[in-house]
Amino acid sequence: MKVYRKDGDTLDILVFPHEVIRKGEYLLVRDEEKDYSLVVQVIDIKYIDSPGILDELVREGLLSGSTVYENDLINVGRASKFIKDTKLATAVIRGSIRGGVFSSIYNDLPSRADSRVERVSTSRVLSMVSRGSGRLRIVLGRDFDGNLVHIPAEGLDGSLTLITGMKGSGKSHLAKLLASSLVRYGAPILIFDLNGEYLGLANEKLVEVFEGGRNLFFSLEYLGRDATLDIMVNVLGLPGVSANLFSEVWDIAVRRGYGITIDGLINVINNYVRNLMIRDALISRLMILKSCRFIRDGSSTRLEDLFDKYRGVIVNLRGLSSVERKVLVEIFLSKLVGLLERDVIPPLFLFAEEAHLYVRDTYWEDIVTRMRHFGLFVVFITNQPDSLGHEVFRQLDNIFIFRFQNDHDLDMLSRISNVDGATVKSIAKDLDRGRVLVVGNVVGNIPSVVEVSRLDYPAFGDTKRVFDYVVSASPE
Ligand SMILES: Nc1ncnc2c1ncn2[C@@H]1O[C@H](COP(=O)(O)OP(=O)(O)OP(=O)(O)O)[C@@H](O)[C@H]1O
Ligand SMILES: [Mg+2]
Repeated sequence: MKVYRKDGDTLDILVFPHEVIRKGEYLLVRDEEKDYSLVVQVIDIKYIDSPGILDELVREGLLSGSTVYENDLINVGRASKFIKDTKLATAVIRGSIRGGVFSSIYNDLPSRADSRVERVSTSRVLSMVSRGSGRLRIVLGRDFDGNLVHIPAEGLDGSLTLITGMKGSGKSHLAKLLASSLVRYGAPILIFDLNGEYLGLANEKLVEVFEGGRNLFFSLEYLGRDATLDIMVNVLGLPGVSANLFSEVWDIAVRRGYGITIDGLINVINNYVRNLMIRDALISRLMILKSCRFIRDGSSTRLEDLFDKYRGVIVNLRGLSSVERKVLVEIFLSKLVGLLERDVIPPLFLFAEEAHLYVRDTYWEDIVTRMRHFGLFVVFITNQPDSLGHEVFRQLDNIFIFRFQNDHDLDMLSRISNVDGATVKSIAKDLDRGRVLVVGNVVGNIPSVVEVSRLDYPAFGDTKRVFDYVVSASPE
């Protein structure tokens, strides 16, 4: 390989026919005399465009089958084949190494005449960048050369993370791997499990699955006025004026001894609310709450105790109606906000699959912005990156991107701040199955392509297929 030219922060590198490189791989451009190297990442590979090459190819087509090349005594054919098979790699400069020390900036260029261009494994680049930082390592998988790649668990801490890619590309698999590693390091996690596919994690010590109406119940008394009001307004769409009145109703129920039960509140509403429309608005929403299988009067699950007892809490949302799902998630988020604010529970990670299906995006923006300070660090998992609001996108610290082909999704991802768009677009489009492009904190801002490891426990996450259930599918 040879450096050809530099354009902005990219180098064009000639790759000769016997040399093999792949998109996403790293190269070192070494100038031994200066003891200086550039670390560059290949983001695109194309044929060289030398003058006359088109004429030559056409001529070759015309002559194919003739004897001209067989009698090519002075090897003209071989030289021209060499030129035709030489490629041009576009590589982004990620940093430089001087005296063995990596820096993310570069202030010099290696000699074009004398520098050597050689492949370097992603894991080696990562180890130069991180220099052993991070005590708690999560084994993510392997780089192109089969070396183990690990990321520091601390890199997820205090951060906002996105796992995205097209359907079936391995997002949930990676989320399970991260979740189980975090739990093993003692970090509390909460998973909103939309399809009941994280249940395998319960094989881990201290991880428990909760299902609304089975081992998860909430009373309005436990939820309190603020969380109940949040549900009424955010999920059930109670208008502002009625919401104010609901607060008063709650106070009256407490003061006059009606008791904080759904029937108690309905009694107060019937006795004290004159406006028929508001009365209906309040009662109909309380009736919806009453119909949720996990809302009941009397004993209640206490979220503060849950996190005392278990490290990992999986909330199985499968089988719930859309309203129930939203109510349950709202209960968790609203109560957690309060508990975290008051330091009753420790900071935790939240894994949210296809979050737009159960929470309004403006609400996520609020959670993401405020919760950073209180200690709720969200890992979003979605195949529709545009389902997350701009505010969320702007704040992402880590992104795991699996294969994407749709240009719209790629455009969206390439607009994430602190990632160079060209890298994401070009590499994510051609990732093999099971490979992920990791960008952000966890990789010290060295975009890395990693083949994700298998799980060391049964995952329970396989998509059902018709023919898995058909005993004999072969035609007679
Ligand atoms: N690194 C891996 N090693 C082994 N199996 C994997 C790996 N990645 C994914 N799989 C398997 O591939 C299948 C699809 O993966 P997964 O469910 O994680 O995809 P997904 O991106 O979450 O899909 P969807 O968009 O449908 O939710 C699963 O059966 C999973 O177990
Ligand atoms: Mg999935």
